[in-house]
Amino acid sequence: KLIPTILCGGAGSRLWPVSREQHPKPFIRLADNMSLLQKAFVRGAALPEVAEVLTVTNRELFFKTEDEFKQVNRTGIAVSYILEPFGRNTAAAVACAALQISSKHGNDAIMLVLAADHLIADQHAFAHAVTRAMVLAKQGQLVTFGIRPDAPETGYGYIEADGERAIRFVEKPTLEVAQEYLDSRRFLWNSGMFCMQAGIVLSELERYCPDVLNAAKNCLALSREAQSNNFVQLTLDADTFANVPDISIDYALMEKSTQVSVIPCDIGWSDIGSWTALSGLSEGDAQGNAIEGEAVLHNVENCYIQSHDRLVGAVGIKDLIIVDTPDALLVAAKNCTQDVKNIYATLKARG
Ligand code: GDD
Ligand code: MG
Repeated sequence: KLIPTILCGGAGSRLWPVSREQHPKPFIRLADNMSLLQKAFVRGAALPEVAEVLTVTNRELFFKTEDEFKQVNRTGIAVSYILEPFGRNTAAAVACAALQISSKHGNDAIMLVLAADHLIADQHAFAHAVTRAMVLAKQGQLVTFGIRPDAPETGYGYIEADGERAIRFVEKPTLEVAQEYLDSRRFLWNSGMFCMQAGIVLSELERYCPDVLNAAKNCLALSREAQSNNFVQLTLDADTFANVPDISIDYALMEKSTQVSVIPCDIGWSDIGSWTALSGLSEGDAQGNAIEGEAVLHNVENCYIQSHDRLVGAVGIKDLIIVDTPDALLVAAKNCTQDVKNIYATLKARG
Protein backbone atom coordinates (compact mmCIF):
# COMPACT_ATOMS: atom_id res chain seq x y z
CA LYS A 1 0.00 0.00 0.00
CA LEU A 2 1.22 3.45 -0.86
CA ILE A 3 0.14 6.61 0.93
CA PRO A 4 1.24 9.84 -0.75
CA THR A 5 1.70 12.26 2.15
CA ILE A 6 1.62 15.89 1.16
CA LEU A 7 3.38 18.34 3.48
CA CYS A 8 1.90 21.79 3.20
CA GLY A 9 3.37 24.45 5.44
CA GLY A 10 5.87 27.24 5.45
CA ALA A 11 5.11 30.76 4.32
CA GLY A 12 6.67 30.88 0.87
CA SER A 13 7.86 34.33 1.85
CA ARG A 14 10.08 34.70 -1.21
CA LEU A 15 6.97 34.75 -3.39
CA TRP A 16 5.37 37.75 -1.68
CA PRO A 17 3.01 39.50 -2.52
CA VAL A 18 1.15 36.61 -4.17
CA SER A 19 2.12 34.20 -1.39
CA ARG A 20 0.62 35.29 1.95
CA GLU A 21 0.01 33.67 5.30
CA GLN A 22 -3.60 32.86 4.36
CA HIS A 23 -2.66 32.14 0.76
CA PRO A 24 0.75 30.43 0.90
CA LYS A 25 2.87 29.23 -1.97
CA PRO A 26 1.11 25.86 -2.58
CA PHE A 27 -2.04 27.80 -3.55
CA ILE A 28 -0.31 29.79 -6.25
CA ARG A 29 -1.88 29.02 -9.62
CA LEU A 30 0.27 28.54 -12.65
CA ALA A 31 -0.53 29.46 -16.22
CA ASP A 32 -2.53 26.21 -16.70
CA ASN A 33 -4.79 27.40 -13.84
CA MET A 34 -3.82 24.56 -11.52
CA SER A 35 -2.31 25.32 -8.15
CA LEU A 36 0.97 23.75 -7.01
CA LEU A 37 -1.04 21.93 -4.33
CA GLN A 38 -3.45 20.46 -6.89
CA LYS A 39 -0.50 19.32 -8.95
CA ALA A 40 0.98 17.59 -5.91
CA PHE A 41 -2.34 15.83 -5.27
CA VAL A 42 -2.70 14.62 -8.85
CA ARG A 43 0.95 13.54 -8.91
CA GLY A 44 0.41 11.34 -5.86
CA ALA A 45 -3.09 10.11 -6.67
CA ALA A 46 -2.06 8.91 -10.15
CA LEU A 47 0.47 6.41 -8.76
CA PRO A 48 -0.32 2.69 -8.51
CA GLU A 49 -1.33 0.99 -5.23
CA VAL A 50 -2.47 4.25 -3.60
CA ALA A 51 -4.69 3.59 -0.57
CA GLU A 52 -5.39 7.24 0.25
CA VAL A 53 -3.79 10.66 -0.06
CA LEU A 54 -2.87 12.15 3.30
CA THR A 55 -2.21 15.87 3.71
CA VAL A 56 -0.57 17.48 6.72
CA THR A 57 -1.43 21.16 6.84
CA ASN A 58 -2.49 24.05 9.04
CA ARG A 59 -6.08 23.81 10.28
CA GLU A 60 -6.78 27.32 8.95
CA LEU A 61 -6.12 26.02 5.46
CA PHE A 62 -8.40 23.01 5.69
CA PHE A 63 -11.44 24.32 3.75
CA LYS A 64 -9.29 25.87 1.10
CA THR A 65 -7.38 22.61 0.69
CA GLU A 66 -10.59 20.55 0.52
CA ASP A 67 -11.85 22.84 -2.25
CA GLU A 68 -8.64 22.50 -4.21
CA PHE A 69 -8.69 18.70 -3.98
CA LYS A 70 -12.38 18.37 -4.91
CA GLN A 71 -11.68 20.12 -8.19
CA VAL A 72 -9.08 17.55 -9.22
CA ASN A 73 -10.03 14.32 -7.43
CA ARG A 74 -11.68 12.76 -10.47
CA THR A 75 -11.15 9.15 -9.44
CA GLY A 76 -12.63 9.73 -5.99
CA ILE A 77 -9.54 8.57 -4.17
CA ALA A 78 -9.78 8.54 -0.35
CA VAL A 79 -8.41 11.69 1.27
CA SER A 80 -7.42 12.32 4.85
CA TYR A 81 -5.91 15.20 6.77
CA ILE A 82 -3.75 15.86 9.75
CA LEU A 83 -4.48 19.42 10.84
CA GLU A 84 -1.85 21.40 12.71
CA PRO A 85 -2.60 24.31 15.05
CA PHE A 86 0.68 25.92 13.89
CA GLY A 87 3.73 24.84 11.93
CA ARG A 88 6.24 22.79 13.90
CA ASN A 89 8.52 21.95 10.98
CA THR A 90 8.74 18.78 8.93
CA ALA A 91 10.00 16.25 11.50
CA ALA A 92 6.81 16.82 13.52
CA ALA A 93 4.62 16.55 10.43
CA VAL A 94 6.34 13.34 9.25
CA ALA A 95 6.27 11.79 12.74
CA CYS A 96 2.52 12.42 13.12
CA ALA A 97 1.87 11.09 9.62
CA ALA A 98 3.95 7.95 10.22
CA LEU A 99 2.10 7.24 13.49
CA GLN A 100 -1.27 7.73 11.86
CA ILE A 101 -0.40 5.62 8.80
CA SER A 102 1.06 2.76 10.83
CA SER A 103 -2.00 2.60 13.06
CA LYS A 104 -4.41 2.69 10.12
CA HIS A 105 -2.58 0.67 7.49
CA GLY A 106 0.14 -1.20 9.38
CA ASN A 107 3.87 -0.75 9.81
CA ASP A 108 4.67 -1.93 6.31
CA ALA A 109 2.50 0.67 4.57
CA ILE A 110 4.72 2.93 2.49
CA MET A 111 4.53 6.68 2.85
CA LEU A 112 5.62 8.85 -0.03
CA VAL A 113 6.34 12.28 1.38
CA LEU A 114 5.67 15.00 -1.20
CA ALA A 115 6.15 18.73 -0.96
CA ALA A 116 3.06 20.80 -1.69
CA ASP A 117 4.94 23.41 -3.64
CA HIS A 118 7.20 21.72 -6.17
CA LEU A 119 6.84 21.16 -9.87
CA ILE A 120 7.60 17.88 -11.58
CA ALA A 121 7.35 18.11 -15.33
CA ASP A 122 7.74 14.43 -16.22
CA GLN A 123 5.06 12.39 -14.42
CA HIS A 124 6.05 9.25 -16.26
CA ALA A 125 9.67 9.42 -15.09
CA PHE A 126 8.44 10.33 -11.61
CA ALA A 127 6.17 7.26 -11.43
CA HIS A 128 9.06 5.13 -12.61
CA ALA A 129 11.33 6.51 -9.88
CA VAL A 130 8.64 5.89 -7.24
CA THR A 131 8.25 2.27 -8.37
CA ARG A 132 11.97 1.73 -7.85
CA ALA A 133 11.89 3.63 -4.55
CA MET A 134 9.13 1.33 -3.29
CA VAL A 135 11.34 -1.70 -3.84
CA LEU A 136 14.09 -0.17 -1.69
CA ALA A 137 11.58 1.09 0.89
CA LYS A 138 10.24 -2.46 1.27
CA GLN A 139 13.82 -3.49 2.14
CA GLY A 140 13.77 -0.99 5.01
CA GLN A 141 15.50 1.96 3.38
CA LEU A 142 14.65 5.64 3.77
CA VAL A 143 14.59 6.50 0.10
CA THR A 144 15.31 9.97 -1.25
CA PHE A 145 15.06 11.24 -4.82
CA GLY A 146 18.26 12.84 -6.08
CA ILE A 147 18.44 15.63 -8.63
CA ARG A 148 21.61 16.42 -10.56
CA PRO A 149 22.75 19.86 -9.34
CA ASP A 150 23.64 22.63 -11.74
CA ALA A 151 24.46 25.39 -9.24
CA PRO A 152 25.89 25.63 -5.70
CA GLU A 153 22.45 26.12 -4.12
CA THR A 154 22.63 26.58 -0.36
CA GLY A 155 18.91 26.08 0.29
CA TYR A 156 18.94 22.36 -0.53
CA GLY A 157 20.12 19.13 1.02
CA TYR A 158 23.02 17.34 -0.70
CA ILE A 159 23.39 13.58 -0.96
CA GLU A 160 26.72 11.97 -1.69
CA ALA A 161 25.78 9.01 -3.82
CA ASP A 162 27.40 5.82 -4.97
CA GLY A 163 24.73 4.48 -7.31
CA GLU A 164 21.63 4.10 -5.18
CA ARG A 165 23.55 4.06 -1.93
CA ALA A 166 23.57 7.34 -0.06
CA ILE A 167 26.97 7.76 1.56
CA ARG A 168 26.00 10.89 3.43
CA PHE A 169 23.31 13.50 3.56
CA VAL A 170 24.22 17.12 4.26
CA GLU A 171 21.41 19.63 4.74
CA LYS A 172 21.92 23.22 3.55
CA PRO A 173 25.72 23.47 3.32
CA THR A 174 27.54 26.79 3.15
CA LEU A 175 28.25 28.25 -0.28
CA GLU A 176 31.89 27.09 -0.21
CA VAL A 177 30.95 23.55 0.68
CA ALA A 178 28.11 23.52 -1.86
CA GLN A 179 30.57 24.61 -4.56
CA GLU A 180 32.93 21.82 -3.52
CA TYR A 181 30.11 19.28 -3.73
CA LEU A 182 29.08 20.59 -7.14
CA ASP A 183 32.64 20.38 -8.48
CA SER A 184 33.17 16.85 -7.11
CA ARG A 185 30.20 15.57 -9.19
CA ARG A 186 29.52 12.99 -6.52
CA PHE A 187 26.56 14.80 -4.96
CA LEU A 188 22.90 15.08 -5.83
CA TRP A 189 20.34 17.56 -4.51
CA ASN A 190 17.73 16.17 -2.19
CA SER A 191 14.40 16.84 -3.89
CA GLY A 192 12.55 16.92 -0.55
CA MET A 193 10.51 13.80 -1.33
CA PHE A 194 10.91 10.58 0.64
CA CYS A 195 9.63 7.04 0.21
CA MET A 196 9.71 4.88 3.32
CA GLN A 197 7.82 2.32 5.39
CA ALA A 198 5.86 3.92 8.21
CA GLY A 199 7.29 1.42 10.71
CA ILE A 200 10.87 2.16 9.64
CA VAL A 201 10.27 5.90 10.03
CA LEU A 202 9.08 5.23 13.57
CA SER A 203 12.02 2.99 14.49
CA GLU A 204 14.56 5.42 13.00
CA LEU A 205 12.92 8.35 14.79
CA GLU A 206 13.07 6.30 17.99
CA ARG A 207 16.79 5.82 17.47
CA TYR A 208 17.85 9.33 16.35
CA CYS A 209 15.29 11.74 17.75
CA PRO A 210 13.13 10.02 20.37
CA ASP A 211 12.02 13.40 21.72
CA VAL A 212 10.26 14.18 18.42
CA LEU A 213 8.63 10.75 18.32
CA ASN A 214 7.51 10.73 21.94
CA ALA A 215 6.10 14.23 21.79
CA ALA A 216 4.24 13.33 18.59
CA LYS A 217 2.84 10.20 20.27
CA ASN A 218 1.60 12.23 23.23
CA CYS A 219 0.01 14.68 20.86
CA LEU A 220 -1.79 12.03 18.82
CA ALA A 221 -3.12 10.41 21.99
CA LEU A 222 -5.02 13.64 22.75
CA SER A 223 -6.01 14.54 19.21
CA ARG A 224 -9.49 14.22 17.80
CA GLU A 225 -10.38 12.28 14.69
CA ALA A 226 -13.54 13.11 12.76
CA GLN A 227 -14.99 11.29 9.78
CA SER A 228 -17.33 12.47 7.10
CA ASN A 229 -18.44 10.89 3.81
CA ASN A 230 -15.47 11.99 1.85
CA PHE A 231 -12.62 12.46 4.28
CA VAL A 232 -11.08 11.65 7.64
CA GLN A 233 -9.50 14.44 9.59
CA LEU A 234 -7.29 14.35 12.64
CA THR A 235 -7.02 17.69 14.42
CA LEU A 236 -3.85 17.84 16.49
CA ASP A 237 -4.01 18.89 20.10
CA ALA A 238 -2.29 22.28 20.34
CA ASP A 239 -0.85 22.05 23.87
CA THR A 240 0.97 18.79 23.28
CA PHE A 241 1.92 19.63 19.68
CA ALA A 242 3.77 22.66 21.03
CA ASN A 243 6.11 20.23 22.83
CA VAL A 244 7.34 18.63 19.61
CA PRO A 245 10.84 19.98 18.86
CA ASP A 246 10.97 22.36 15.89
CA ILE A 247 13.40 20.63 13.52
CA SER A 248 13.26 19.51 9.91
CA ILE A 249 13.21 15.83 8.95
CA ASP A 250 16.44 16.45 7.03
CA TYR A 251 18.40 17.44 10.14
CA ALA A 252 16.50 15.16 12.52
CA LEU A 253 16.71 11.96 10.51
CA MET A 254 18.20 12.04 7.03
CA GLU A 255 21.59 13.37 8.09
CA LYS A 256 21.83 10.75 10.82
CA SER A 257 20.33 7.52 9.53
CA THR A 258 22.62 4.89 8.02
CA GLN A 259 19.86 3.34 5.93
CA VAL A 260 19.30 6.09 3.41
CA SER A 261 19.10 5.33 -0.31
CA VAL A 262 18.81 7.65 -3.24
CA ILE A 263 17.15 7.24 -6.61
CA PRO A 264 19.00 9.50 -9.02
CA CYS A 265 16.27 10.85 -11.25
CA ASP A 266 15.62 13.17 -14.11
CA ILE A 267 11.99 14.16 -13.65
CA GLY A 268 11.91 17.86 -14.51
CA TRP A 269 11.91 18.81 -10.83
CA SER A 270 11.90 22.40 -9.68
CA ASP A 271 11.28 23.89 -6.30
CA ILE A 272 10.04 27.31 -7.50
CA GLY A 273 11.99 29.02 -4.77
CA SER A 274 11.76 32.58 -6.04
CA TRP A 275 10.12 34.88 -8.55
CA THR A 276 13.10 34.39 -10.82
CA ALA A 277 12.52 30.62 -10.77
CA LEU A 278 8.79 31.11 -11.30
CA SER A 279 9.32 33.56 -14.16
CA GLY A 280 11.62 31.01 -15.80
CA LEU A 281 8.58 28.77 -16.33
CA SER A 282 6.89 31.23 -18.67
CA GLU A 283 8.03 31.34 -22.21
CA GLY A 284 9.53 34.76 -22.92
CA ASP A 285 9.07 36.74 -26.13
CA ALA A 286 11.94 37.73 -28.43
CA GLN A 287 13.14 40.32 -25.89
CA GLY A 288 12.98 37.79 -23.04
CA ASN A 289 9.88 39.37 -21.48
CA ALA A 290 7.10 37.28 -19.97
CA ILE A 291 3.73 38.76 -19.11
CA GLU A 292 0.88 37.32 -17.10
CA GLY A 293 -2.13 39.58 -17.19
CA GLU A 294 -1.95 42.88 -18.99
CA ALA A 295 1.04 45.07 -19.80
CA VAL A 296 2.23 47.37 -22.53
CA LEU A 297 5.99 47.49 -23.01
CA HIS A 298 8.32 49.82 -24.80
CA ASN A 299 12.04 49.16 -24.97
CA VAL A 300 11.89 46.53 -22.22
CA GLU A 301 14.18 43.52 -21.91
CA ASN A 302 14.22 40.34 -19.84
CA CYS A 303 11.41 41.35 -17.48
CA TYR A 304 8.62 39.36 -15.87
CA ILE A 305 5.38 41.21 -15.26
CA GLN A 306 2.33 39.80 -13.51
CA SER A 307 -0.75 41.95 -13.12
CA HIS A 308 -4.27 40.58 -13.23
CA ASP A 309 -6.14 43.60 -11.92
CA ARG A 310 -4.80 46.51 -13.88
CA LEU A 311 -2.67 47.44 -16.81
CA VAL A 312 1.07 47.92 -16.33
CA GLY A 313 3.04 50.22 -18.63
CA ALA A 314 6.81 49.80 -18.65
CA VAL A 315 9.42 51.80 -20.50
CA GLY A 316 13.18 51.40 -20.82
CA ILE A 317 13.76 48.80 -18.12
CA LYS A 318 15.50 45.46 -18.00
CA ASP A 319 16.00 42.45 -15.73
CA LEU A 320 13.10 43.32 -13.44
CA ILE A 321 10.31 41.39 -11.79
CA ILE A 322 7.07 43.32 -11.37
CA VAL A 323 4.19 41.68 -9.56
CA ASP A 324 1.05 43.69 -8.94
CA THR A 325 -1.79 42.58 -6.65
CA PRO A 326 -4.81 44.58 -5.41
CA ASP A 327 -3.03 45.76 -2.25
CA ALA A 328 0.70 45.36 -2.85
CA LEU A 329 3.21 45.84 -5.65
CA LEU A 330 6.62 44.18 -5.91
CA VAL A 331 9.41 45.61 -8.03
CA ALA A 332 12.63 43.60 -7.78
CA ALA A 333 15.84 43.06 -9.69
CA LYS A 334 15.89 39.57 -11.18
CA ASN A 335 19.16 38.66 -9.47
CA CYS A 336 17.90 39.66 -6.00
CA THR A 337 14.60 37.86 -5.71
CA GLN A 338 15.85 35.56 -2.93
CA ASP A 339 15.74 38.65 -0.72
CA VAL A 340 12.02 39.21 -1.21
CA LYS A 341 11.69 37.22 2.02
CA ASN A 342 13.10 40.27 3.83
CA ILE A 343 10.11 42.33 2.79
CA TYR A 344 7.80 39.63 4.07
CA ALA A 345 9.72 39.52 7.36
CA THR A 346 9.59 43.30 7.77
CA LEU A 347 5.85 43.34 7.17
CA LYS A 348 5.30 40.49 9.58
CA ALA A 349 7.34 42.22 12.27
CA ARG A 350 5.21 45.33 11.81
CA GLY A 351 2.13 43.15 12.36
N1 GDD B 1 2.56 20.39 7.39
C1 GDD B 1 3.69 21.07 7.42
N2 GDD B 1 4.07 21.66 8.60
N3 GDD B 1 4.44 21.17 6.31
C2 GDD B 1 5.58 21.88 6.38
C3 GDD B 1 6.03 22.51 7.56
C4 GDD B 1 5.20 22.39 8.73
O1 GDD B 1 5.50 22.93 9.80
N4 GDD B 1 7.19 23.16 7.28
C5 GDD B 1 7.46 22.92 5.98
N5 GDD B 1 6.48 22.16 5.42
C6 GDD B 1 6.37 21.69 4.02
C7 GDD B 1 6.60 22.79 3.00
O2 GDD B 1 5.37 23.35 2.58
C8 GDD B 1 7.24 22.01 1.86
O3 GDD B 1 6.22 21.41 1.06
C9 GDD B 1 8.02 20.90 2.57
O4 GDD B 1 7.40 20.74 3.84
C10 GDD B 1 9.52 21.21 2.74
O5 GDD B 1 9.65 22.32 3.59
P1 GDD B 1 10.51 23.59 3.18
O6 GDD B 1 10.43 24.58 4.28
O7 GDD B 1 10.17 24.03 1.80
O8 GDD B 1 11.97 22.93 3.21
P2 GDD B 1 13.26 23.49 2.51
O9 GDD B 1 12.95 23.99 1.15
O10 GDD B 1 13.94 24.41 3.45
O11 GDD B 1 14.18 22.17 2.37
C11 GDD B 1 13.68 20.90 1.98
O12 GDD B 1 13.40 20.85 0.59
C12 GDD B 1 14.55 21.00 -0.29
C13 GDD B 1 14.08 20.86 -1.72
O13 GDD B 1 13.11 21.79 -2.02
C14 GDD B 1 14.75 19.89 2.37
O14 GDD B 1 14.19 18.60 2.28
C15 GDD B 1 15.99 19.99 1.49
O15 GDD B 1 16.89 18.94 1.78
C16 GDD B 1 15.58 19.91 0.03
O16 GDD B 1 16.74 20.05 -0.81
MG1 MG C 1 11.26 24.42 0.05
